[in-house]
Amino acid sequence: MKKIYQDMNEVCVKTAEWFVAEANKAIAKHGKFTVALSGGSTPRQLFTELAKPEWQKQMDWSKVIVFWGDERFVAPTDAQSNQKMARETLLNHVPIIEKNIIPVPFLATAELSAKQYEAELKQIFADLPKFDLILLGLGADGHTASLFPGSLALTEETRWVSPAQSKAGGPERITLTYPVINNGALVCFLVTGAEKAVMVKAILEATPGSEVYPAQRIQPTSGKILWLLDRAAASALKK
Ligand code: 6PG
Repeated sequence: MKKIYQDMNEVCVKTAEWFVAEANKAIAKHGKFTVALSGGSTPRQLFTELAKPEWQKQMDWSKVIVFWGDERFVAPTDAQSNQKMARETLLNHVPIIEKNIIPVPFLATAELSAKQYEAELKQIFADLPKFDLILLGLGADGHTASLFPGSLALTEETRWVSPAQSKAGGPERITLTYPVINNGALVCFLVTGAEKAVMVKAILEATPGSEVYPAQRIQPTSGKILWLLDRAAASALKK
């Protein structure tokens, strides 16, 4: 399903409304809301919106457990850290319990960090994690989380967490793998900006079975998928 809004601001307000509704549904259903956050510039505005009192007072942050769908292999104090961005824009401003913030560890190597994160997930989830919500972005190259074109992480069918690397350079990454992301109860792509329009079209109007880009293989086995777009990102779509 896709929803198209006027601009980034409306996308973030509507997504905040919907995030709160999903959190309250999950908390009512099983006493907690497990969410894997994405990185990048788009969620920054969403997190800032979610931190506003009018959203905070509509949900019980003490029952929210926060994870990351991917992370850059940098220190948590590094400006590129997804954890740092989420703490500064959202987590430092809501009454979440610190033990319910589960960041990707920053160890000696990306491989060790991935292994440790998977071990921590296995302590929390008895079986393959079924996150109540997985937030994803979309790169203009068709990557999502840190599942980049040509990355070995794309072939991972058993590990829950894998190191990854973008051919475009930048820091090594750690990412949830397809088995975990596709086991999510709700997977939400948050995509804004004209620079994503061609890729959004390629993904949403692709012939089934012709998956070329990493984001096309995000096909939840039993959960739902939702695309939240602004008009610019949706501008190349037929309908
Ligand atoms: C990251 C993200 C990455 C991001 C896309 C889109 O760590 O950068 O997980 O997958 O979602 O690159 O990023 P923008 O929202 O900044 O375009």
